[in-house]
Amino acid sequence: MSRKLIIAGNWKMHNTTAQARALITDLAPLVAGAASVDVVVCPTYTALATASDALQGTGIMLGAQDVFWKDKGAYTSRISPSMLLDLGVTYVVIGHSECRGRFGVPEPDFDEAVLAHFGDSDATVNRKLKAALAAGLKPIVCVGETLSERRQGEADAVVASQVRGALAGIDADAVPGLVLAYEPVWAIGTGEVCGSDEADRICGVARATVAELYGAEAAEAVRVQYGGSVKPDNAAELLGKPNIDGALVGGAALKAGDFAAIVNAGA
Ligand code: 13P
Repeated sequence: MSRKLIIAGNWKMHNTTAQARALITDLAPLVAGAASVDVVVCPTYTALATASDALQGTGIMLGAQDVFWKDKGAYTSRISPSMLLDLGVTYVVIGHSECRGRFGVPEPDFDEAVLAHFGDSDATVNRKLKAALAAGLKPIVCVGETLSERRQGEADAVVASQVRGALAGIDADAVPGLVLAYEPVWAIGTGEVCGSDEADRICGVARATVAELYGAEAAEAVRVQYGGSVKPDNAAELLGKPNIDGALVGGAALKAGDFAAIVNAGA
């Protein structure tokens, strides 16, 4: 089965509304020829409305970086699936390692007590995934091991277990439409990309876990992105691998030329 590549830019905590509009204005003509790839940008919540407006007619889709699992209520600071839909959001990133409090390059004040406030666990990821699917959002579910987990030989087990945790109780009908993102935490923002063979192998581990749970056909349909220091000069090699169906791009997504080069490497 051939799967359509999906290349998403996760802008993280960058870009005011004016910067978001300028980036999209620069990006749109550069990826206009990439109809064979699903192109997504994921601004901060505060720039979603502006981005939604700027994306009109470009063919680029809008994603959010997180979502809460309740539709409304006394949940100060949270954003519901229907609020995202209201802004024209199509995709939503769920369970990013930075939302799970798992960082590749911890800042000095990121001790255990502080990390706990980043919050996501397999259980909250599972709730967010269920809520996103119920609302009709398209989830991008992130998984990946830390450096110490990799050094202890636990990478495969961590990825399989995060996939199982995210998908617990998810209806089989929803699975083929899912996007998983394998993002080794040690490769995020560090400039240290995972080798393409190893990235492909672990994307295969994620897919095999879907196969165990839902069967081969669902696993063949699920798209698995790689994320972690994807740049214009390594994108073609990563995107050429059989188990890698796209990229989740951080730093390089903040520059129109770099992100377009990554998209066009897959087109
Ligand atoms: P970088 O591309 O900056 O390593 O970030 C990857 C990432 O976390 C995307 O979600």
